[in-house]
Amino acid sequence: MTLQRELDPTAAELRECLTRLPRTLPPRWLYDDRGSELFDRITRLAEYYPTEAEREILAGHSAMIAEVSGATTVVELGSGTSDKTRTLLDAFVVHGLIDRFVPLDVSEATLLYAADVLNQRYPDLVVEPVVCDFTRHLSRLPQGGTRLVAFLGGTIGNFYQEERRAFLGALADVLDPGDWVLLGLDLIKPIDRIMAAYHDRDGVTDAFIRNALVSINRDLDADFDVGNFEYVPLWDDREHRVDMRLRACEPEVAHIGALDLDVALGAGEELRVEISTKFDRDAVAAELTDAGFADTEFLTDAAGDFALALARRR
Ligand code: SAH
Ligand code: AVI
Repeated sequence: MTLQRELDPTAAELRECLTRLPRTLPPRWLYDDRGSELFDRITRLAEYYPTEAEREILAGHSAMIAEVSGATTVVELGSGTSDKTRTLLDAFVVHGLIDRFVPLDVSEATLLYAADVLNQRYPDLVVEPVVCDFTRHLSRLPQGGTRLVAFLGGTIGNFYQEERRAFLGALADVLDPGDWVLLGLDLIKPIDRIMAAYHDRDGVTDAFIRNALVSINRDLDADFDVGNFEYVPLWDDREHRVDMRLRACEPEVAHIGALDLDVALGAGEELRVEISTKFDRDAVAAELTDAGFADTEFLTDAAGDFALALARRR
């Protein structure tokens, strides 16, 4: 197995995010080794419904996805452990046309673990993991054959609207007519169920969000007082998204050695760490059409909590 690696230094991006108001953190700081483990725990929490809902859809529709797309290469963006993806790949292997799977993620340890499991399960499939950032390196997508790009888990909901538009446009640009996209989307539903998924009783989500500061402290020689922050998840009704923030309890000045930057936070001041947008099918279909995709079909679980959008590059 050859592991391809392409990561830009992200320090400059962090400076920009922390110095303009409101202060944000780029979400990829969430996914160091510990963050990836915490996310894996989140997917197994009783309150966190998206993972099992998406698994149900994949179990019911993967054979159709393999048949309709006829893809020979499956690419997975933000693949993580590729756990659910095995259901999809099983169907592609039975269908018989697939020869390559390319999981792509910023988390090298998770990717290597996933590739190992996949190599054992599919000895005849070429598995080509790529460590890279899907917001910058889509040009690294493998060429040739018919490609299906899966972006599962609802991760597209972690983009702000403008970022989502830019991402879908960039994805359409690197695909050829006849290639496919398979997008996992968490759907709008009663707020209490959504908020329970992002404020679990065991505090795993709190630890996951807080871990972004732990990663920055370690990798950029910073001294954020992680215990001085309170995890504050809010529902933004206008944008249909959960807004996950860290609020400083006491004033503090954090120094980021690698950036030679002081970040002064007043009591109650917040860092916006992550958003998780919930979708309306018609709006997503329109966004996919605008970006250059056609024939969007939605597949949902029985409860209607989650959807997979399958669309063809025009
Ligand atoms: N697809 C999996 C994992 C979702 S968690 C699932 O459905 O359960 C989001 C994944 O995206 C993590 O594995 C994280 O490491 C990865 N990720 C986050 N930001 C990324 C970026 N900018 N580029 C590439 N991978 C990213
Ligand atoms: C990866 N992504 C789809 C998760 C979500 O639900 O937005 C990340 C997450 N953040 C907190 N809990 C889960």
